[in-house]
Amino acid sequence: MDQELFESVDAYISNLFGYEDAVLKDTIKSMEEADIPAISISANQGKFLQLLARLNNAKRILELGTLGGYSTIWLGRALPADGYLLTLELEQSHADVAQRNINKAGLDQIVQIRVGKALEQLPLIVAEGIEPFDMIFIDADKQPYTEYFEWALKLSRPGTLIIADNVIREGQVLNDNSTDERVKGVQRFNKALAANKQVSATIFQTIGSKEHDGMAIAIVNS
Ligand code: SAH
Ligand code: DHB
Ligand code: MG
Repeated sequence: MDQELFESVDAYISNLFGYEDAVLKDTIKSMEEADIPAISISANQGKFLQLLARLNNAKRILELGTLGGYSTIWLGRALPADGYLLTLELEQSHADVAQRNINKAGLDQIVQIRVGKALEQLPLIVAEGIEPFDMIFIDADKQPYTEYFEWALKLSRPGTLIIADNVIREGQVLNDNSTDERVKGVQRFNKALAANKQVSATIFQTIGSKEHDGMAIAIVNS
């Protein structure tokens, strides 16, 4: 494939538009030091999500899968000073690293991390009667993506933007016989998304510094 070319063009774009300040660079470094897997979104994807948040005039964002807080910081920076970003993370050790990075970014007044299984947290959040979110970024474990999407809908209003990362998996989604639970999870999700009448959606492929993948994007209909 043309991975080398994709990476060079990704670097070209990020040099122009995907500026990572010291906080974002240190976030990546903090994850290396803590042996946290290097599976954050790329800088250009961060900028892209930031633009989407602004396009939708987002004041409240929900994220599933915090990791070291890299995507959280990109998204948090799209919010006004009275905005709110709730991010769900299974691993306390990831949340600890992420919290430090969020503090360094000066986003601790805006960002709240909740630790636990997303599928246990989401019903609690719905039961609390929380205000709907303007944007929801699904990026936790892949097997329950369909259920995450269903919960996301309960936390949405007409016009809410729902984005799901890693829905193409280097084209493995084309393989109907895949035994990889992550691939099966996103295959099931992509089908459910396409069939859901409550949203209008598509998937765009992502290439660049990360492996070939894709993000699903959906807007909740009126
Ligand atoms: N959004 C991050 C990357 C997230 S990686 C970024 O781009 O910077 C996926 C994260 O989801 C990991 O930190 C993992 O611990 C977390 N995760 C895995 N299973 C989960 C679950 N059941 N509930 C909540 N988080 C989960
Ligand atoms: C994986 C998860 C991600 O969120 C990602 O962007 C890349 C890979 C994974 O679990 O393999
Ligand atoms: Mg991801």
